[in-house]
Amino acid sequence: MPGALPLVGHMLAFGKNPFEYMMKLRNSLGEIGEFRMFHQKMVLMTGPEANEAFFRAPDAQLDQSQAYKIMTPIFGKGVVFDAPPHKKDQQLKMLMPVLRDKPMRGYAEVIVREVEQMIAGWGDAGEIDLLAFMKALTIYTSSHCLLGDEFRYELNEEFAKIYHDLEKGVNPLAFVFPYLPLPVFRRRDKARARLQELVTGIIAKRAQKPEKSEDAFQLLIDARYDDGSRLSAHEITGMLIGTIFAGHHTTAGTASWTLLELARRPEVMRSVLNELDAHFGADGEVTFQSLRETPLLENVIKEVLRLHPPLIFLIRKVMRDFHFKGYTVRAGKYVCTSPRVSHRIADIFPDPEKFDPERYSDARQEDARPFSWIAFGGGKHKCSGNAFAMLQLKAIFSILLRRYTFELIDDKDTYQDDFTQMVVQPVSPCRVRYIKRLGMKKAAAETARNTAQAEAPVRPRFQIKIDRELCQGHATCMSEAPELFHVDDVGNVTVLQESPPLNLLAQARQAEKYCPTQAIKIELIENPEESKNGRIS
Ligand code: HEM
Repeated sequence: MPGALPLVGHMLAFGKNPFEYMMKLRNSLGEIGEFRMFHQKMVLMTGPEANEAFFRAPDAQLDQSQAYKIMTPIFGKGVVFDAPPHKKDQQLKMLMPVLRDKPMRGYAEVIVREVEQMIAGWGDAGEIDLLAFMKALTIYTSSHCLLGDEFRYELNEEFAKIYHDLEKGVNPLAFVFPYLPLPVFRRRDKARARLQELVTGIIAKRAQKPEKSEDAFQLLIDARYDDGSRLSAHEITGMLIGTIFAGHHTTAGTASWTLLELARRPEVMRSVLNELDAHFGADGEVTFQSLRETPLLENVIKEVLRLHPPLIFLIRKVMRDFHFKGYTVRAGKYVCTSPRVSHRIADIFPDPEKFDPERYSDARQEDARPFSWIAFGGGKHKCSGNAFAMLQLKAIFSILLRRYTFELIDDKDTYQDDFTQMVVQPVSPCRVRYIKRLGMKKAAAETARNTAQAEAPVRPRFQIKIDRELCQGHATCMSEAPELFHVDDVGNVTVLQESPPLNLLAQARQAEKYCPTQAIKIELIENPEESKNGRIS
């Protein structure tokens, strides 16, 4: 590219707005072109053929790990991008069962409960910072599904602090001096160490329990390398935090843009609502299966990901000379591709700036050409969390949109992408107003019912009351919920846990239901934590 400055090269223009710079490069040089960041030569490749060459190249030629070195202090030494290639491949493979079909069915239920909990205190109308709301929601959904009950309930607050310190430790300085004695890096390292301590404790506790947890954490505890060895606590910690990092801001940004794009277009919003109302009604159950049957919502999300892919460029280091259509990219350079630029090629996506979910209809299928729509990357390293991300996004909107309508508060052109962040999201704050939908009373009642369940878990929040005058000592409760009740030989019942964790609620309810004398009452303790749901006070 022309215009390189002494020393810094194209750094200033790129840094100012990387998307505009890459678009300019594509428009001037076509599908392959070189620019310079300080002394480092970078080659941008865009369009389906260039993307295919990029994604299909073997790791030994285009190495992904080098580009993610900045994450090593957080994920840990020897974990994923810092592991030798054969180990990295196995570790990434171990993540697959976590994100595949079977556990996904359970995740749908968890996500729905978390959404219900987040909107429990909303009332008839109000204002939120949408991005803050989506960030809070998606950290709850992903920590709940992936880390499990211990982190979501018992260690919720400590985990929030650890996560905050780890996030603050993602700093471009770490490319060059990852362990500089700066306060942010010290806090990052302390948080990583504490997280590993907690993970080690939970592994030991779980080993004592007869029943197995059904979360990603457990799948990693049970996973084995090809030689039969287990992952260490250090590796499990890194892989869990890596998965959460990979999915958090990407999903939160996409969820925010989905709502913003819908709020900008009442006619598209209406069509999506019609689809959801027809499919779920006011109180239809949102499940893994039912979420598969919402094609318009899915196309809306795809269109959001075309126009606002959160990762606007993906990088590899060239380890062996790389050839594309008569060009040679020499070893030592970096090569990148850009989903955001590739998604704006008019030959593939006509009128590319137009928001048009119909592009993906059976009649048009504009994304049919391989490697043209690449919001989740492609090839061997395509996002392994893409099904989980789509499930989350569809579950979030199938609840939110049936309960509330949304309006932009500020001028619609003020909602823009923030290119200063590594993961691109709308500029914050991005304020929206919510208004309860009329005629959705039944749905509201369902929210209230689910909320009672969903709210409880922030802390262990239900109580067991025994009416001793009614109890005859049948001991049915002890068989239904042995962790909660003990009945001695003479029929005296003892409640074993004062305020039990929510995962025992189902068992407690069984004991209540089957008590022959109706002597047991389960009471939920309500304590909504509004400050955590992105509300503007
Ligand atoms: C990789 C996008 C959500 C886990 C990737 C890549 C992209 C991407 C573009 C490829 C990176 C590269 O080639 O260098 C997205 C988007 C998401 C999302 C747009 C949400 C809208 C998630 C979620 C998870 C996840 C929810 C996990 C729960 C991963 C993992 C990889 C990855 C583990 C590395 C795969 C590998 O290198 O083999 N993601 N992602 N992502 N993503 Fe996602």
